[in-house]
Amino acid sequence: QVENTLNTLGYQVASYILPDGEQFKNMAHVESIFTQLLEKRFNRDCALVALGGGVVGDMTGFAAACYQRGVSFLQIPTTLLAQVDSSVGGKTGVNHPLGKNMIGAFQQPQVVLADMAQLKTLPERELSAGLAEVIKYALLGDVEFLAWLEAHMDGLVQQDPALLAEAVYRSCAHKARIVANDEKEQGERALLNLGHTFGHAIESYLGYGEWLHGEAVATGMVMAADLSHLMGWISEQDLERTKKIIHRANLPIKCPQIPLDDFLAYM
Ligand code: GLY
Repeated sequence: QVENTLNTLGYQVASYILPDGEQFKNMAHVESIFTQLLEKRFNRDCALVALGGGVVGDMTGFAAACYQRGVSFLQIPTTLLAQVDSSVGGKTGVNHPLGKNMIGAFQQPQVVLADMAQLKTLPERELSAGLAEVIKYALLGDVEFLAWLEAHMDGLVQQDPALLAEAVYRSCAHKARIVANDEKEQGERALLNLGHTFGHAIESYLGYGEWLHGEAVATGMVMAADLSHLMGWISEQDLERTKKIIHRANLPIKCPQIPLDDFLAYM
């Protein structure tokens, strides 16, 4: 449908299907995008359109940053996680066996088009993974949004379209405010990595794709809250509140068995 629409508008369109899943987010697949572009003789005036989830968006954006030293790109995210987080803010890249998202570039998309109709076919597990990043915005400094999520979590899990649209809108607005202040993550943007240091270690240790990114971030946020509680920075009630909202989104709150040295090395 996207291809037909672009054809109708007079664009020369070629499509290329990337495999989905963190285990495929690597240089070999970005290289295959370059091969497609070169074989089809696209010049610097082309634009790459990422139609898919976060993995597709990250690889397409990175390819756009590198192809002929940079071409335009557009994001059409089809998962909740991509709509609320990865498609916005210009972080693109791939995983390395030694660490997640270690190779990449900041490349802002010209457009992010989040169509709620895309979410109708999303598996429940993927929806929950996206909710992890929605909860993140509430936990990192928006207690009013946290109260809204507590009031509406059941409806969100049941995929109420109006509630999902509101959650996407509020999440993107939150992220846009932070990225506008600190695009290259010299300070405030690091807030958006809440739970990710723990989460990336889980993903990397278990092998990319074993846990979904959002699932690892969910457990990572519980671990971060646990640590904050141990350090005396947040109350027991806030720790319990964090666990409860994450659990209600059908997300894991317990870290899998990982030897401490391995965990620290991945962190
Ligand atoms: N997902 C974290 C960030 O975009 O900075």
